[in-house]
Amino acid sequence: MKVNSKHYHTVWYEDGTLKIIDQTKLPHAFVIKELHSVKDVITAIEIMEVRGAPAIGVTGAFGVWLASKEALAVKDFEPAFDKAVKEIRAARPTAVNLAWAVDRAAQAVKAEPQLEKKVQAALATAQLVTNEELESCKQIGLQGVKLIEEIAQKKNGRPVNIMTHCNAGWLACVDYGTATAPIYEACERGLKVHVWVSETRPRSQGFNLTAFELGQHCVPHTLLVDNAAGILMQRGLVDLVIVGCDRASRTCDAANKVGTYLKALAARDNGVPFYVALPSSSVDWSIGDGVKEIEIEERNTEEVLRVTGLGQKGIESVLVAPSTAKAINFGFDVTPSRLVTGFILERGICPATEEGLLKLFPEKRRE
Ligand code: MRU
Repeated sequence: MKVNSKHYHTVWYEDGTLKIIDQTKLPHAFVIKELHSVKDVITAIEIMEVRGAPAIGVTGAFGVWLASKEALAVKDFEPAFDKAVKEIRAARPTAVNLAWAVDRAAQAVKAEPQLEKKVQAALATAQLVTNEELESCKQIGLQGVKLIEEIAQKKNGRPVNIMTHCNAGWLACVDYGTATAPIYEACERGLKVHVWVSETRPRSQGFNLTAFELGQHCVPHTLLVDNAAGILMQRGLVDLVIVGCDRASRTCDAANKVGTYLKALAARDNGVPFYVALPSSSVDWSIGDGVKEIEIEERNTEEVLRVTGLGQKGIESVLVAPSTAKAINFGFDVTPSRLVTGFILERGICPATEEGLLKLFPEKRRE
């Protein structure tokens, strides 16, 4: 996707180096950062220089490549490698893409019998995962645009108003995005769209990242505070909600950035279709009840107590609560499948049911 008219990926490998767009600096500065070690990768994921389920998965897979290089430099490859893999996998717990991609790259390393070829096996797998995620997001766009086209037909040339949450855009993936992929595809096709972008406190991914992305692509959008989502739906100003996903159960309960559940409730109360867009790498087939079983990341409460933005001296963080106040900071919530109209995946759109999902992924059927 484009930044100042130049095409970028969020995470990429170039001349032997892993590079990311540092998302903690956006939208005020566009900074490309190099990650040279397992420690760099873990820190970048933890402090959210790289974030979003597919993007942390791909970064984690490249982390395994760095782990294999570092393990080769010590006497015993296996214990050093296993320890690093475990640490990368644990950097953020909710998005299953991280564990999925790390496990794939680690398995490729284990399957390669020759020590000197293990690094190459990790790199090849990380590149494969990158290309697969890219292709999945592109396909999500081609599938999801059908929903926008359908609504556009009933709007007599007026824009289709789409609400999203957090950033499930190309910054959260390698390219295209998940929730935003159908929006970009609609724009490509000349459909009129307008996007409602909610702030997404505490880290403001909506304002900082989604608004930045949409602005770079000239997609009309309007910002709102999270609490305004309900009134917009009540007033008929939202035609469709599309959100991303960090981990879905096989029964289609969907964990996504905290606040997604509230949007789903408001959408249901107001008859607004609510779709979850995700690559199949975000489905955790081992989980039945997402509300009970998906691990929810709890982050540092400083993120709640403080707000970060551009001040007189550059990017600054200011306290917005009494210095003695306590806070709670769940990173995600789980929207039960009963509130979800459908899933948009690389293979198609399905009802948010186990059967719906299995029709698209019959190879996951249990005997
Ligand atoms: O904490 P974040 O910013 O990594 O949370 C991101 C989200 O919740 C996204 O919606 C999700 O990862 C889907 S990304 C295509």
